[in-house]
Amino acid sequence: MGMQYTTLGGKKGIKVSKIGIGVWQASGDWKAGDDDVIKAVGKVHDLGVNLVDTAEAYGAGHSETVLGKALKQFGRDNFVVATKVNGGHLRYEELQKAAAASMRRLGIKEIDVYQVHWPDPWEQIPLKYTMKAMEKLYVEGKIRAIAVSNFAVRDLEEARSYLSRADIVSNQLRYNLVQRDIEDEVIPYCRKNNIAIIAWSPLAQGALTGKYSVGKVPKGDVRDLNLLFEPANLSQIAKLVEVLSSVAKHHKRLISQVALNWLATMPGVIPIPGVKSATQAAENVGSLDFEITKKELDAIESAAARVKVDYLPTEKPLTA
Ligand SMILES: NC(=O)c1ccc[n+]([C@@H]2O[C@H](COP(=O)([O-])OP(=O)(O)OC[C@H]3O[C@@H](n4cnc5c(N)ncnc54)[C@H](OP(=O)(O)O)[C@@H]3O)[C@@H](O)[C@H]2O)c1
Repeated sequence: MGMQYTTLGGKKGIKVSKIGIGVWQASGDWKAGDDDVIKAVGKVHDLGVNLVDTAEAYGAGHSETVLGKALKQFGRDNFVVATKVNGGHLRYEELQKAAAASMRRLGIKEIDVYQVHWPDPWEQIPLKYTMKAMEKLYVEGKIRAIAVSNFAVRDLEEARSYLSRADIVSNQLRYNLVQRDIEDEVIPYCRKNNIAIIAWSPLAQGALTGKYSVGKVPKGDVRDLNLLFEPANLSQIAKLVEVLSSVAKHHKRLISQVALNWLATMPGVIPIPGVKSATQAAENVGSLDFEITKKELDAIESAAARVKVDYLPTEKPLTA
């Protein structure tokens, strides 16, 4: 089965693959090799993926620079480039400078999806100026779509009230089988208002791949700060991973593919797994072409409901 696509911003909006790729991994936070990430971008392109996600915050621009090389190699027009202005650059002038700097690093003249990475944590800068700056970029043709990330419903409502020429097309949020804070309010609001949910950490940073367990955790990268990798949380997650594993076996798939399938087949949700290699990239793209049965879905949901993980619901993106 070929790649499935959806649109950001309504029927006439930007066509994007139902699964994308995140390239935060090309930074000191993750320590993936630049060439490996470039190869991963090439691989997903071969498989029909066009959505690539980065941010000025990732490796202080390094991730954008690496993605820029990939765009040059595999053809800029084959991709929908999503990047982000960091939550420390939200003043009117600063935001426009940040967009220009991102474009320079990416080697592109127009950003396809420009996202406010997170709302001003100190709530000092009026959101009005941030959104007016976003709209100016849109009107000038420097960005094709206005988007946000880590916005609660109250933030979305306020942000949208300042836009008159365009609406917000997507909200990028942490979403995976064990971190589901957005289900109560944010998802219903976004669905109702045609705002796509771009799911970050769709594999819970690897905790939903089956390769990590108590005593076997990644060390020396950004996950040192991720509370999901604490023993108490990992042993909870293990019970869910067991169920995912049996579903995976039935479909001759990987645990990670079942976790991604659960997300990607949800209406309005587009996962962007981050990868360190072309192999991981191909595996993740392969998560779409099988169907979890109703019985399996029920088993996954009831196992997930029993998982009690303790992490900070309000924890800021780790590059904040
Ligand atoms: N908007 C925001 O605030 C925000 C925050 C975080 C991330 N993001 C974006 O979302 C993207 C994804 O989130 P994330 O990187 O936090 O977490 P993730 O996608 O859940 O996990 C990524 C990690 O999982 C492992 N992995 C990926 N594919 C795998 C596979 N097929 N098999 C086994 N392991 C696999 C890799 O690490 P190992 O191989 O080392 O285990 C990889 O670095 C990022 O690249 C970034 O673009 C946005």
